[in-house]
Amino acid sequence: MTNKSTIAQVGRHVGETVTIGAWVNNKRSSGKIQFLQLRDGSGYIQGVIVKSEVSEDIWNDAKSLTQESSLYVTGIVREEPRSQSGYELTVTGIEIIHLTENYPITPKEHGVDFLMDHRHLWLRSAKQRAVLIIRAEIIRAIQEFFNGNGFTKVDPPILTPSSAEGTTELFHIKYFDEDAYLTQSGQLYMEAAAMALGKVYSFGPTFRAEKSKTRRHLIEFWMIEPEMAFVDHEESLRVQEQFVSHIVQSVLKNCAKELEAIGRDVSKLEQIQGEFPRITYDEAIAFLQGEGFDIPWGEDFGAPHETAIAERYNKPVFITHWPTHIKAFYMKPDPARPEVVLCADMIAPEGYGEIIGGSQRIDDPALMEERFNEHNLAREAYQWYMDLRTYGSVPHSGFGLGLERTVAWICGLDHVRETIPFPRMLYRLYP
Ligand code: 4AD
Ligand code: MG
Repeated sequence: MTNKSTIAQVGRHVGETVTIGAWVNNKRSSGKIQFLQLRDGSGYIQGVIVKSEVSEDIWNDAKSLTQESSLYVTGIVREEPRSQSGYELTVTGIEIIHLTENYPITPKEHGVDFLMDHRHLWLRSAKQRAVLIIRAEIIRAIQEFFNGNGFTKVDPPILTPSSAEGTTELFHIKYFDEDAYLTQSGQLYMEAAAMALGKVYSFGPTFRAEKSKTRRHLIEFWMIEPEMAFVDHEESLRVQEQFVSHIVQSVLKNCAKELEAIGRDVSKLEQIQGEFPRITYDEAIAFLQGEGFDIPWGEDFGAPHETAIAERYNKPVFITHWPTHIKAFYMKPDPARPEVVLCADMIAPEGYGEIIGGSQRIDDPALMEERFNEHNLAREAYQWYMDLRTYGSVPHSGFGLGLERTVAWICGLDHVRETIPFPRMLYRLYP
């Protein structure tokens, strides 16, 4: 019995005979030699079959292999500096598991709709695989950052009786005889958790029934939401820039091969460290008006506004102090200027838009009551949230990072649909 190995581990077996379970990615032949491009998920390796050195059966089996056929391939591992993996396999045996006919995704170009309909197969392509590996590294780095900085991971509920981020984009479901909604954000629950544990973070799916068909919007996306007791707006911005720098630097360090596979310009990512620039909403409006945008004070920004601002910097930029009336009910007004709130959106460079939204939260019970009224919120559903202000209220702040927009930016992808294994978008629920 020969050693079983994965492609990623063949380096431990140079000169030995190993057996690898693999799929055929591609194949070429020069008449006397066949070259199998093999993949097993862990990596890629070339298998070389020399006609004069194998039995006729093995030669013919190799000839019958088609794209995405599966097999156990046995061979001797050789060092091969010219190959991408650094190794090559001199094939001595082949056991076909399954011969594939007419694999739909061929090396030629396919349209986006076709690829999205075949997302379950598209994931096998080199680029999609690299994106998923980078996504996993981003998640690892996120957990490392918070676990190493005194935060406790807390899981907020997914089924909720009320809304966290406005009532128009809610997925409504029946909860036996009651109404319930899929969570838009775990924030309100994380505020309760921060009062119990100090510094907390959540990481989970969130849902928005947004009728937006843009390259930045998903219906189901993953959000990381830290919440910190006794931390003000300014301190929260410091955490945010350190957090995002840590993510980018971790990907640069641990995913060099994958960044290369997707053709990312890493020089842009290398600059993401240290302090990030900040501008106030007022300054942003003045700049946009100066650039000829027709946008009055008090209006929210769209993608073109965000991009125009981001283009001035080579790092993410914080836009702070937004008008109170366009932001969420829980944001704390600036004591010096109550018409703006102590909040910031972090806009990624290169046109990737808002990746973080955060703020200091209202801690004054009387003001919280006022906001419930102004926003017509069903008071009973928020009693528990009010209690956080009634019993030992403290200054506290938090923010939410959208995972998929972060993946899109770091990978340099045009659209968030490639950042998540099975995207849920307006008009797409399959596969
Ligand atoms: O700015 P948002 O709506 O903020 C909140 O939900 C706060 N409760 C977060 C907090 O303070 N705990 O969303 C946060 C981030 C956005 O900056 C964006 O990156 C991402 O979530 N996001 C989306 N990503 C993909 N598709 C969508 N439809 C998104 N909506 C928001
Ligand atoms: Mg936002």
